[in-house]
Amino acid sequence: MARLKVGVLISGRGSNLQALIDACAAPDFPAEIVLVVSNNVNAQGLERAHKAGIATKVIDHRSFGGREAFDVAIDAALRRAEVELVCLAGFMRLLTPGFVAWWRDRIINIHPSLLPSFKGLHSHERALEAGVRLTGCTVHFVRAEMDDGPIIVQAAVPVHAGDDAERLAARVLAVEHRIYPLALRLIAEGRVRVEGDVAAVDGPAPDTVLINPPDAGT
Ligand code: GRF
Repeated sequence: MARLKVGVLISGRGSNLQALIDACAAPDFPAEIVLVVSNNVNAQGLERAHKAGIATKVIDHRSFGGREAFDVAIDAALRRAEVELVCLAGFMRLLTPGFVAWWRDRIINIHPSLLPSFKGLHSHERALEAGVRLTGCTVHFVRAEMDDGPIIVQAAVPVHAGDDAERLAARVLAVEHRIYPLALRLIAEGRVRVEGDVAAVDGPAPDTVLINPPDAGT
């Protein structure tokens, strides 16, 4: 079966890109990364793509007159590479509503919180300030509003007493690296249906409960 052609947009470290690269390395994985685009020439993720033999393109937002022209350039690169699904992985630019509309239901993002809580930057700091016991991460389809759109996969991660944002971020990031490849696989297998504002996943789902603090009685 043909593998789904994926384009990944990054701005920095690229650890989620790495998780996707690693998943795609399995011969039976139903997707392949055909292009990595970065708006930042110094993004560490570019190195990861080179190592994996994946084509890269740097499109520096500062060399464009406005957001529309920048997005047109990204769109052209993705189309040239025959990308079928776009994965945002630490891409730090807001995409225009026009771009998002062209790629509707064919563009996904990962965010380090249980959306719709803690959208935007500094989600771990705000989770700690709010005193939540559980936070987590979300893979979702992208809509014009930031960190908004039908949820594909979420994972809950406990907040521990004495956590700071760095420790919490590391705990969440390890789980991000599990759910992003999972979401990609589900889409590539054709198991995700978007119905209005929600996404449904076909097939069996494990029934697990995560409670924090743990209930010793259960
Ligand atoms: C991740 O925490 C991701 O959820 C958020 O930005 C961070 C990117 O990290 N959107 P990396 O570049 O994938 O290492």
